[in-house]
This record gives sequence, structure tokens and C-alpha cells, in this order.
Amino acid sequence: MIAKAARTEARPDSPGNIGVPRHVAIIMDGNGRWAKARGLPRVAGHRQGAESVRKVIRAAGEAGIECLTLYAFSSENWRRPETEINDLMGLLRFYLGSELDALHREGIRLRIIGDLSAFKPDIAQMVERAVARTAENTRMTLVIALNYGSRNEIVQAARTLAGRVASGEIAPDVIDEAAVNAALDTSDLPPLDLVIRTSGERRLSNFLLWQAAYAELLFVDTLWPDFDGNALRAALVDFAGRERRFGGL
Ligand code: FPP
Repeated sequence: MIAKAARTEARPDSPGNIGVPRHVAIIMDGNGRWAKARGLPRVAGHRQGAESVRKVIRAAGEAGIECLTLYAFSSENWRRPETEINDLMGLLRFYLGSELDALHREGIRLRIIGDLSAFKPDIAQMVERAVARTAENTRMTLVIALNYGSRNEIVQAARTLAGRVASGEIAPDVIDEAAVNAALDTSDLPPLDLVIRTSGERRLSNFLLWQAAYAELLFVDTLWPDFDGNALRAALVDFAGRERRFGGL
């Protein structure tokens, strides 16, 4: 079991209080370029990327982060060649099979955001079983975004709320930010404090658009397969040096 760092008294989601972010999300980008630079097939980059996932989960737990969200497969990733999609699915299967015991032992609760229904039934079942098995763990929540797209998540939330209005359950004017928040996939997660994107790209790419409204953004040039515990710790130092005002002065 990894020792959990004492959490600072300061709540990073309050203005002016900087400490360990409660919720960090990562866009893990650059696997393909990492492989290409070595003359390797893209899948080798994804495999090495899965090693980074392992290292970063461990470092996040040690740092006392409450929730780590990883963008593993976007709703746009279906546009990739079938062979690469198959490779990514194979890796996900392998990762869940080999890492679940360790995650559970470390007290990590697994959550998924995104639409699992598009995945092959064996993967969807494996994921659901892993989520159920780790549901009571409290040390850290690991959220894996699978077939996730932020705009679609917001559309689904609008549909849910519209349905509640249409059935007479709620009046339109009770729909406020909290109501929208509660209808999103992330409703039970802490507010998002920090989004990291690797590989030099400076975009959110349809990831947690609503949730990132007041998050700090950090773009690093490191390719995801080279990102490790030290890189995460450097990101946390960067975060701790920022002043968050949430629109105030
Ligand atoms: C982006 O790199 C990465 C992905 C689309 C997939 C991320 C998947 C992993 C890190 C491996 C498995 C994850 C888990 C949770 C087991 P890219 O392919 O877009 O790289 P490029 O921009 O250099 O081509």
C-alpha cells in the first residue's frame, strides 16, 4: 500500500487556496509520435503509454490527488484505422486483466465516463466488473474516459433535464448550473482543478469542456510514453505556483 500524503488544509477549489489539486485530468497524447521517432509501429507507443499510465497512477496516489481522469479513447478515435482500434482495445483488455488486482490493492476506485455501449461486449463487461469490484475503495478515484466526448455528454445532460421538464417533474427555471452539473457523467467527482495535455498540442479536443471552466491548463511538450511520476510531480509544482481567482480579484 502506498502511503498517502497528508492533504493540505487549503482547498484548491476555493479562491486563493493553492495546494494539491483534488482532481487532475490528463489528455495522454503523443504515443504515435513516440513510436515513429523510434521506427516502431504505433502500437509500441500505446504499449509504452500504458506503462506511463501505471507510473502516473502511482505518483498521483502518493501525491494525495483525490481523483485522476485519463482520456484513453475519445468518441473521435473510432475514425482511426481498424487495426489501431483493435490494438487499443487489446491493450485495454490486457491492462484491465493485469492491473485490476493492483488497483484494488492500492485502494483505487475505478470509474468510467463515456459511452461503453459501442465496445465489444467482453470489454464492456470487463470494465463493468472492474468498476463494481473497486466501487468501495476510497483512496483515489481513477476515471478512465472511454468513447467519451464532452459535447455529447452535455447533449445527454440537456436531454435528461428536458425529459424531467416534459414529464412535469421539474420546472424549467429550476435548471441551474448545479442541475446541469448533476446531470453530467462526472456528477460525483470533485471539481476539476488541473488539465494536463502532453506532446505539445494546445487543445482540449472535446474533453471535459464544462468541467474545465475554471481548471488550470498545463501543456507540456513531453510525449505521453515519456511522461512519468517525476513529470506529474513537476506539473503539481507548476499548479501550486498558480493563483486561482475564479473570476474574482
Ligand atoms: C494519443 O496518442 C493516445 C491515445 C489515442 C490512446 C491513449 C491510450 C493509452 C495511453 C494506452 C492505454 C490506456 C489505458 C488506460 C490502459 P496518439 O496516438 O494520438 O499519438 P500521436 O498524436 O503522436 O499520433
